[in-house]
Amino acid sequence: MKANGRASVSPHAILPGSFDPPTNGHLDVIERAATCFGRVTVAIVVNPQKQRSMFSLEEREAMLKECTAHLPNVSVEHFRGLLADYVKRMQADVIVKGLRAVSDFENEMSTALMNRSLSDVDTLFLMSDQNYSFVSSSIVKEVFFLGGDVAALVPKPVLHIMEEKRAGLHRSK
Ligand code: PNS
Repeated sequence: MKANGRASVSPHAILPGSFDPPTNGHLDVIERAATCFGRVTVAIVVNPQKQRSMFSLEEREAMLKECTAHLPNVSVEHFRGLLADYVKRMQADVIVKGLRAVSDFENEMSTALMNRSLSDVDTLFLMSDQNYSFVSSSIVKEVFFLGGDVAALVPKPVLHIMEEKRAGLHRSK
């Protein structure tokens, strides 16, 4: 896993993502990772070249912290720039990501290989819960802001913040 070829006794995993917003699918993968690794850092990407986020970094950080408060070995941070550089800076052992379906695989494979060539750190994949295999942040946002019910798809604190945001959008119209 690591450049020195030695596996850590208590591996530190980085679980990166946009989390715009975090979904039950994300939380499921975070919980699974927390049972597999000694330490898990959920890392929110802050990249100007990515499409503008609907939720601010502060909102995403607050939502993730609240949703993972029951997991003592999980912390929430953010990073700018390359994931491979962040992983090296953090001296982490492994990158962890969720895989929902075969359609995720192609993109994830090239990303994992690029990250390994940049940082010599491997990416391990955890299969998402089948109940959430169709759930993504973008589909949740679209359905919610068009009036659909997403209560079963996002953690309660996330739904709360989404409802506040929707109410704010309606007020400003
Ligand atoms: O939740 P997402 O949007 O699918 O997560 C994508 C993420 C954050 C893992 C990916 O965009 C990323 O690693 N961004 C950091 C910039 C970077 O390293 N890009 C090169 C990837 S090979």
